[in-house]
Amino acid sequence: MSYNLLKGKKGLIFGALNDKSIAWQVARRAAEEGAELVLTNTSVAIRMGDINKLGEDINAPVIASDATDIDDLDNLVKKTKEHFGGGFDFVLHSVGMSPNVRKRRPYDDLNYEYLKKTLDISAISFHKLIQTLKKHDALNEWGSIVALTYIAAQRTLFEYNDMAEAKAMLESIARSFGYIYGREKHIRINTVSQSPTMTTAGSGVKGIDGLMDFTERMSPLGNATAEECADYTITLFSDLTKKVTMQNLYNDGGFSSMGMSRRAMHMYNKSLSGDCDGNE
Ligand SMILES: NC(=O)c1ccc[n+]([C@@H]2O[C@H](COP(=O)([O-])OP(=O)(O)OC[C@H]3O[C@@H](n4cnc5c(N)ncnc54)[C@H](O)[C@@H]3O)[C@@H](O)[C@H]2O)c1
Repeated sequence: MSYNLLKGKKGLIFGALNDKSIAWQVARRAAEEGAELVLTNTSVAIRMGDINKLGEDINAPVIASDATDIDDLDNLVKKTKEHFGGGFDFVLHSVGMSPNVRKRRPYDDLNYEYLKKTLDISAISFHKLIQTLKKHDALNEWGSIVALTYIAAQRTLFEYNDMAEAKAMLESIARSFGYIYGREKHIRINTVSQSPTMTTAGSGVKGIDGLMDFTERMSPLGNATAEECADYTITLFSDLTKKVTMQNLYNDGGFSSMGMSRRAMHMYNKSLSGDCDGNE
């Protein structure tokens, strides 16, 4: 159902790879709510994924850009402004990747060159993006920027690895830049902390099936899907949330406030055959 929440608004969306991507669902919902969009991803992702199909479906141009590359970001922001004939209103940063996770390097045997890449792609790219937007004065007054994050920024979750550091930095950038951009142009910056979700990036996390079952059992409302993340994100782009800024907002069915639930306890009790080190 459409509420015309984004009628007359224009936005730039990073990170739609295929129809499992959270950014894909956000783009689809934003278009349904009346927004005009520009989509972006790396040239490899554009070649390997389905983003061009999404662009055709919602009538949005696709512009290649590596979110870690300042020249690419410069070009992207310039071209997006050209396309819209001026400034725009919202941006979604839905970008994440860890070479340590991909190459199965455990947290106590990290490759530090990979760690630099994890931080650059998954966190510093957010700073680079906002700095570039600001330099080009690309966002309209009362605009909104959202990045996607995960609760591993606050709590240790087995196998999330160096992405935990990246998410902690990402959330901090939202606060630090949220102050500056808010003060100077009433731009709000928030992060949405999403439930584990079966996307291409999500399925790279070791043990994702067990994790999703656990968080589903622990959350009174159950895990939030990519579509539900899109619904929530749309409200943050709309004029209904103009004074919400510098926040990390959980879209996780209540997981972040839970310690133990009846459904999780039931499962745990059933499997009390091993010791605390996981040995049978
Ligand atoms: N899936 C989950 O369980 C989950 C939970 C919480 C938060 N998130 C976050 O949501 C965001 C989107 O991930 P997703 O789950 O939709 O997976 P996804 O794999 O569909 O999206 C990740 C995107 O990042 C893009 N990307 C990677 N390197 C890039 C670069 N250098 N420049 C530009 N783009 C680049 C990829 O091409 C891809 O489109 C990520 O920040 C992820 O950490 C995911």
